Amino acid sequence: MPQPIPYQGSKRSIAAQILTMLPTDIDTLVEPFAGSAALSIRAAYSGLARSFFLNDLNAPLMDLLSLIINEPDRIASDYGRLWHQQRGREREFYDEVRARFNATRRPDLFLYLLARCVKASVRYNAAGEFNQSPDNRRKGRRPESMKEDIQAVSRLLKGRTRITSCNFTATVQHLNPVTDLVYMDPPYQGTSGGRDSRYCSGVERSMLVTFLKDLNELDVMYMLSYDGRKGSKTYGGKLPEELKLVHAMIQAGRSTQSTLLGRQDVTHESLYLSPALIERVDSVAEKLNRIATWSSPSTQLEMALV
Ligand SMILES: C[S@@+](CC[C@H](N)C(=O)[O-])C[C@H]1O[C@@H](n2cnc3c(N)ncnc32)[C@H](O)[C@@H]1O
Repeated sequence: MPQPIPYQGSKRSIAAQILTMLPTDIDTLVEPFAGSAALSIRAAYSGLARSFFLNDLNAPLMDLLSLIINEPDRIASDYGRLWHQQRGREREFYDEVRARFNATRRPDLFLYLLARCVKASVRYNAAGEFNQSPDNRRKGRRPESMKEDIQAVSRLLKGRTRITSCNFTATVQHLNPVTDLVYMDPPYQGTSGGRDSRYCSGVERSMLVTFLKDLNELDVMYMLSYDGRKGSKTYGGKLPEELKLVHAMIQAGRSTQSTLLGRQDVTHESLYLSPALIERVDSVAEKLNRIATWSSPSTQLEMALV
């Protein structure tokens, strides 16, 4: 699967599993927390939606996605120029680019930083400045291979993707509850109380719950990735019963850190399905059984099973 934007927390590795739950006749796939848009890229590749709506509060990230989709040659050549300019003075060059990015928020500089920083993980200081260090063992992805992925993503999404950079709640204004499906992957609640250095912004759990209630009232089909479990450690509490969501745990493999430490900790990611989605998907239980383990199926699911 092409992916020009390296992004920690990307759903690239479990996108296919999540998409198993999509009804067949989706018009627009809406991602209020799009990040690197891994799910939409995969859905476009598999022909699972007609159009896409990508939103993320991180404006330089959405500017970057917009360039990748709409002006692939330009962003690929900007990246290539930066990559070649770093030669022989990689460390100093990274610091210069980071300072320029913090002053200008230019998307080409952002792509270079993402390709070179430690574990592709963005980090922000209290002033909202990108402050992640470079991975000094790597020089960042080679321009030729970056260009291939940029062009592939452009071919998949150009001409049928709307991009915005707003708070997630604003996406509801553009929704068609009958034909669209919303996929949400907010920052994890384990880290979103107070300032979350991993993203430009965190999300209050109460705000998210209110948003889910609004979506339920509008009968919107949605899926939500929210926290999970690594080994025996669980991250985040469950969402309120009154939302009537079906909750399953997708096995997402072993984390890089566990592999490095030689541990067997398997990461599980929570996937919640909305009542409107359960109603529209054929053989929900059978599909979920293939990709997930259950966590207390709700009454709603029992109804679906009947
Ligand atoms: C877990 S990441 C999403 C990763 C994405 N699924 C992918 O595959 O790359 C969460 C995203 O939510 C964004 N975000 C944080 N607060 C937000 C808000 N209030 N509204 C919209 N997006 C927000 C962050 O910038 C971040 O990109």
